[in-house]
Amino acid sequence: MRDARIVSRRFDIPQIHTIEVARNHGAYEKLHWAFALSSDEIITMIHESGLRGKGGGGAPAGDKWSLMPLNDSRPSYLVVNCDESEPGTFKDRQIIVKDPHLLIEGIILTCYAINAHHAYIYIRGEYAPFQQILQTAIDEAYRAGYLGASADGSDFALDITIHRGAGAYICGEKSALLESMEGKRGHPRLKPKQKECEWYFGNPTLVNNVETIASVPFIVYDGPMAYRAFGTAKSPGTLLFAISGHVERPGVYEAEFGVSMMEYINRFGGGIKGGKKLKAVIPGGASTAVLTAEEAAGATLDYETLQSMRSALGTGGMIVMDEDTDMVEALKNLLEFYRHESCGQCTPCREGTGWSDIIVHNILEGTASSTDIDRLLQLSRTMNGQTICVFAPAVSMVIDSFISKFRDEFEAKLRKDL
Ligand SMILES: Cc1cc2nc3c(=O)[nH]c(=O)nc-3n(C[C@H](O)[C@H](O)[C@H](O)COP(=O)(O)O)c2cc1C
Ligand code: SF4
Repeated sequence: MRDARIVSRRFDIPQIHTIEVARNHGAYEKLHWAFALSSDEIITMIHESGLRGKGGGGAPAGDKWSLMPLNDSRPSYLVVNCDESEPGTFKDRQIIVKDPHLLIEGIILTCYAINAHHAYIYIRGEYAPFQQILQTAIDEAYRAGYLGASADGSDFALDITIHRGAGAYICGEKSALLESMEGKRGHPRLKPKQKECEWYFGNPTLVNNVETIASVPFIVYDGPMAYRAFGTAKSPGTLLFAISGHVERPGVYEAEFGVSMMEYINRFGGGIKGGKKLKAVIPGGASTAVLTAEEAAGATLDYETLQSMRSALGTGGMIVMDEDTDMVEALKNLLEFYRHESCGQCTPCREGTGWSDIIVHNILEGTASSTDIDRLLQLSRTMNGQTICVFAPAVSMVIDSFISKFRDEFEAKLRKDL
């Protein structure tokens, strides 16, 4: 596996979060050059790079940017999604703590390309201590003239404001996030029939993940082909994969798309903790279907491969489980989270997450009936495809994967042999 560091390339430099050190290592150096490009030229570069959104869905960033009207009478906005509340996912926090000026530079380039003069960073409520580091970097960028009325001496004006969430996972979903920013309850909106941009107080808005935006400076300065030199044809570039659970070295390590999952776990994660055997891996944050050890052995870390395995790359946050893991307990743990975090708008989700949690609780307590496993599968089917957002279908996929792959463990609990 070759080294592939785009977003994390400055992470190890001491004090890189300060503007002085960041500038000594190239931050903001080429901004004036980028300001000589047109919006279309930058958007074309993003298209050509094949950059895919790193917030979980993998949508092509160029397509989303192209939905923004460039000559609208209304103001346009960029909203950077730093809600990062999915269990197993903790990569965006590395960017804001270790290299906040990379994110700020990405925001400046993106806003210039989409003709937005105000960007918001929506940050997870629990990230208050990291927010301070980010705010200090933003203040430094204002003082140095990269933000404000005349960014880097150009005629482009840009302000950045941090908006703190209040601890609801669903506020990471882009339309719930915008509702929350508008001062309303964080409920996902109904999806429009045709593809369009998002709307913040009725104004055209682009929502992108922190890491997506932090990838922009490399693409603009080094060129789309330099980005495409990493990864696969359909999943180009790199991702800050996170690894947690039963490994020797949990953490966040950038790798190019397409590398082998096991090679990643062994090289970066240091292998399974205590030399035990692998039992299962949740590949892309808690909302992706679990893989067995055999499946993990054949998996590569890219969107297409994991989709073909009826799971998903998601955020790339891998949760590794060793041979001693109780899979019924593991599912119960996830279901408590989903039940707590369902926003409650859709009946199949509100009721389905609650009742699934109760059934698995009963299985663990030995009070479930012999038909409860199938009842759980039935319930999970009702959550798929009938809701406003993809929260419920993701829960359904997770339940199905745990039961279809580890049914013997659920049955053993019913028989009380485990
Ligand atoms: C329940 C739920 C939670 C989400 N949480 C996040 C999150 O914390 N951060 C994020 O960037 N995207 C999250 N997303 C995806 C966003 O809706 C959106 O697709 C993403 O921010 C777009 O950015 P990208 O195209 O750069 O990935 C979530 C989606 C769902 C359904
Ligand atoms: S699927 Fe669940 S989280 Fe999404 S809108 Fe419906 S109730 Fe809310």
